[in-house]
Amino acid sequence: MYFHGTSRVNEKGHLEIGGVDVVDLAQEYGTPLYIYDVALIRERARAFKQTFEKHGVKAQVAYASKAFSTVAMVQLVEEEGLSLDVVSGGELYTALKAGFPPERIHFHGNNKSYEELEMALQHEIGCIVVDNFYELSLLEQLSKQHGVTTSVLLRVTPGIEAHTHDYILTGQEDSKFGFDLNNGQADEAIEKALASSSFKVLGLHCHIGSQIFETTGFVLAARKIFKKIGDWKEKFGFVPEVVNLGGGFGIRYTSEDDPISASMYVEQIIDEVKKQVAELGIPMPEIWIEPGRSLVGDAGTTIYSIGSRKEVPNVRQYVAVDGGMSDNIRPALYEAKYEAVLANRVLDENEEVVSIAGKCCESGDMLIWDLPLPKAQAGDYLAVFCTGAYGYSMANNYNRIPRPAVVFVENGEAQLVVKRETYEDLVRLDVPLKAKVNK
Ligand SMILES: Cc1ncc(COP(=O)(O)O)c(C=O)c1O
Repeated sequence: MYFHGTSRVNEKGHLEIGGVDVVDLAQEYGTPLYIYDVALIRERARAFKQTFEKHGVKAQVAYASKAFSTVAMVQLVEEEGLSLDVVSGGELYTALKAGFPPERIHFHGNNKSYEELEMALQHEIGCIVVDNFYELSLLEQLSKQHGVTTSVLLRVTPGIEAHTHDYILTGQEDSKFGFDLNNGQADEAIEKALASSSFKVLGLHCHIGSQIFETTGFVLAARKIFKKIGDWKEKFGFVPEVVNLGGGFGIRYTSEDDPISASMYVEQIIDEVKKQVAELGIPMPEIWIEPGRSLVGDAGTTIYSIGSRKEVPNVRQYVAVDGGMSDNIRPALYEAKYEAVLANRVLDENEEVVSIAGKCCESGDMLIWDLPLPKAQAGDYLAVFCTGAYGYSMANNYNRIPRPAVVFVENGEAQLVVKRETYEDLVRLDVPLKAKVNK
């Protein structure tokens, strides 16, 4: 059994996180329930930040809030002194509501609207990561209207795709994001951006993938980017103040995953950037990174109540829980794998192998296949580990299932940070037929 962060088994044989009995939390707040281990989030954040500090390298570690965006989470990020990456007006609004310093917000996205860019300029956020030519001209127009010079990074696709242990070099990357580094798009984009008085071009950005367990992809991406910077230095006299190498640092979902430490990623990145900078004879730029999953993924645990069971003789035991693809769509979307225990009987011997089904009307709504468990009964609590990233943030109301509550735990205390949706919340935006209203 593998426990993340402060998770442990207490004297009652219950799962405890942050010094709080998970069974008590389930009873107080209901299930499904997302529980976040705040100390672990802090530890992960500090590991990235402190590695840069240790090496004396100017950096921004920007939490990719798409992984889990709520007011309390953004406030925690602020407490830890990180920056914030947002990808929509909604994420930006959440950040502003949380009182996050606008100058440390970076705005991403492949189709930012006029209104979203307008909002970003109004609030004078730190930087906009420009993704395409449409955005470049829209932002130029808006910057002129506002009479401002906008700090931008250009997002480039370096032709490297990295996932877990594999990275793929693709000549022409087939991606909806960014300016292609190989086919002339990026050259055209930088020329346009540098020629415009509306922009301060801070540098370049790339993001090569997710759940990456090795450093080769980042090193290759840095090499490709600096090769281009070398060309642009000659051609335009361009020297970047910032190189942003994105997120994608891997975490341990199951025993099959063996991630490396934050410091290993960061040190390799620093080494490569230093090497490239020395070759080009340019000053060291700030290095920015954007971890999402690796800050919150293993800090999150979802607690479900177990309900019905179905046996398919000689094939499978289905054990159903009171959530599913509505609170964690990753297994259905990516065949993502998770580990789980009975939170109220952690030390009981495993007696059977079951498959955990969600309650949504979709055969594909399966959370875990072939999970060894003690004989689970209705009323037991199932704790699914490592659901902190892209769980709540991708939650939905399929089958009109209300989204669960979120609780932060730290030093023996629990704090509700997102309330459970009610049935009334579900119909709040519905507009009844006129005929029914007038009657
Ligand atoms: C541009 C960008 N930055 C950062 C991230 C965060 O990735 P991860 O959560 O895998 O660290 C993503 C994820 O999609 C992304 O697209």
